[in-house]
Amino acid sequence: MAHQWLGVLREYADRLDVTEATPIVTLGEGGTPLIPAAALSRRTGADVYVKFEGVNPTGSFKDRGMTMAISKALEHGAKAVICASTGNTSASAAAYAAHAGIQAVVLVPEGRIAMGKLSQAIAHNAQLLQVKGNFDDCLEIARELAASYPVHLVNSVNNDRIEGQKTAAFEIVEALGDAPDIHFIPVGNAGNYTAYTRGYTEEAERGAATRVPRMFGFQASGSAPIVLGHPVREPETIASAIRIGNPASWELALQARDATGGYFGAIDDDRILAAHRMLSAEVGIFVEPASAISVAGLLERADAGAVPAGSRVVLTVTGHGLKDPQWALRAPGGGEVQPTVVPVDVAEIADVLGLRPLEHGTAQPDPAGAA
Ligand code: F0G
Repeated sequence: MAHQWLGVLREYADRLDVTEATPIVTLGEGGTPLIPAAALSRRTGADVYVKFEGVNPTGSFKDRGMTMAISKALEHGAKAVICASTGNTSASAAAYAAHAGIQAVVLVPEGRIAMGKLSQAIAHNAQLLQVKGNFDDCLEIARELAASYPVHLVNSVNNDRIEGQKTAAFEIVEALGDAPDIHFIPVGNAGNYTAYTRGYTEEAERGAATRVPRMFGFQASGSAPIVLGHPVREPETIASAIRIGNPASWELALQARDATGGYFGAIDDDRILAAHRMLSAEVGIFVEPASAISVAGLLERADAGAVPAGSRVVLTVTGHGLKDPQWALRAPGGGEVQPTVVPVDVAEIADVLGLRPLEHGTAQPDPAGAA
């Protein structure tokens, strides 16, 4: 019988703080595909795999951390959870809280989150407040509310989130039989960068992997506090998920970089969108812009000579393209892609497609047997 994936808390119960007393709240997250990307391997000379986190239940990697955070919140008796979000955390918190039968409160920067994510939080019955400020303001308020009111914080400053998210590294080691040489990942609060480093480190410690990969993290140029070495007061990028000026896990991320021989780089929005197009058109994986920065980071590092030929690399792409689909309709030189409109007419459509009729007698047999 086919194995039914049970969600990360049950699949990795031996490596997470879950006990008989933990009420497991799961939507079946994790177990995501690790996809060989031939087009990226050809382009870079490395052996490239893409960990597609967009196929999680709410369309992003946040679900790995949220199953843990909401389960532990219930274990501690919480009746309500709160988070600040650029969109994906709020979608995930709302869905898992709904499943658990508790209330989610989400604070998002007004007008700055993708429509798909806003819709998810509302669909899952969260109390959603749009704050007249940026993500960093939202996080500060969420932390203060959680400190003084009966609401449980489920941002990645809550260690349960990092613990759940580290399971992605377990899956990669299992799929490849070892850790990769280099891991590329988008960076906002740097919680996921920290989580993968922890996951890989644990795999090496228990002997399942022979190495910990070098962790390469990428921020958008207009929103790159870790690269710049100081907070960014007004972060700007089309990659709204990572529009963060003062990352919550900054210190942990620097420790992880130093421990793994890692790297932080900045990528501008044009390169993010070019990588977004390439991943969609040449690999067949549709992601949101923030996720495409992993691909852009790989291309930039490969061009810089920092990715040895033949090395095995994994890129995490964090969120599904359907959350923020408008970017696919952006033409490379600017303007909107306008799909061609045609009449209900076979000959005219064939003409528009540049198709020539088959020579007489060379036609495929008619499957319906009409001849
Ligand atoms: N990619 C996507 C699609 C994200 O939504 C986020 C973070 C990141 C990457 C960066 O992960 O913060 O752990 O470094 N989104 C958060 C949110 C901030 O509210 O959804 P990180």
